[in-house]
Amino acid sequence: MSFIIAIDGPAGSGKGTIASFIAEKLGFLNVDTGAMYRSVTLAVLRNNIDMNDKEKIIELAKTLQIDLKNIDGSIHAFLNGEDVSNEIRTPKVNASVSIVAAIKEVREIMVEHQRALAKDHDIVMEGRDIGTVVFPNANIKLYLEASAEERAQRRYKQNLEKGLEVPYEEVLESIKNRDKIDSTRADSPLRVPEDAVIVDTNGWLPEDARKNIYKLIDDLMGEN
Ligand code: DC
Repeated sequence: MSFIIAIDGPAGSGKGTIASFIAEKLGFLNVDTGAMYRSVTLAVLRNNIDMNDKEKIIELAKTLQIDLKNIDGSIHAFLNGEDVSNEIRTPKVNASVSIVAAIKEVREIMVEHQRALAKDHDIVMEGRDIGTVVFPNANIKLYLEASAEERAQRRYKQNLEKGLEVPYEEVLESIKNRDKIDSTRADSPLRVPEDAVIVDTNGWLPEDARKNIYKLIDDLMGEN
């Protein structure tokens, strides 16, 4: 049986950074499930499919090959063999990904893929429904929290580092909008798994995150 660490939380709560620290420490496979939903969304946009056309989106999602690969310590997303890691972070994808991720059949395809990854790997997986739906029996569940303003500030800085100039107000608006859609959708809404450890990441810098999370993981692994 694989060892599974599930990390959930809203956009910008630190899931990506924390998952990569844990994966590095334990040598686990790191799976960013948001990148999978983003890759489907990019494919929908590229194919000029209307965001209201559920049937066409589902049909397309069934045909896509989505892979995640760790390259020099960061996760790259591949859509039908093409590295789309930068393109899946653009405002256009941000604006539509919650719509695509709310489609039940798209989620079923992604969840099946996510579970298959854990068949032969110890895994740290981050998303919105990992501890609630994908792996309800995960060995460790973390739920990360931070204020919308703090999360927007982080995304704003990450964008600048990648050369994307998106105004802070726009980033904040987009985060609030996605929070709302992700937590109110009918299928697998974002919520705190019952048995999760809640981690408040407000004010954490990446160096605090590494130290704090290693301590927490050491404590929790001791209990497992
Ligand atoms: O973590 P992120 O911002 O890259 O996620 C992008 C979107 O995908 C987010 O708006 C919600 C959705 N998502 C989801 O519904 N379920 C997951 N397991 C991961 C992400």
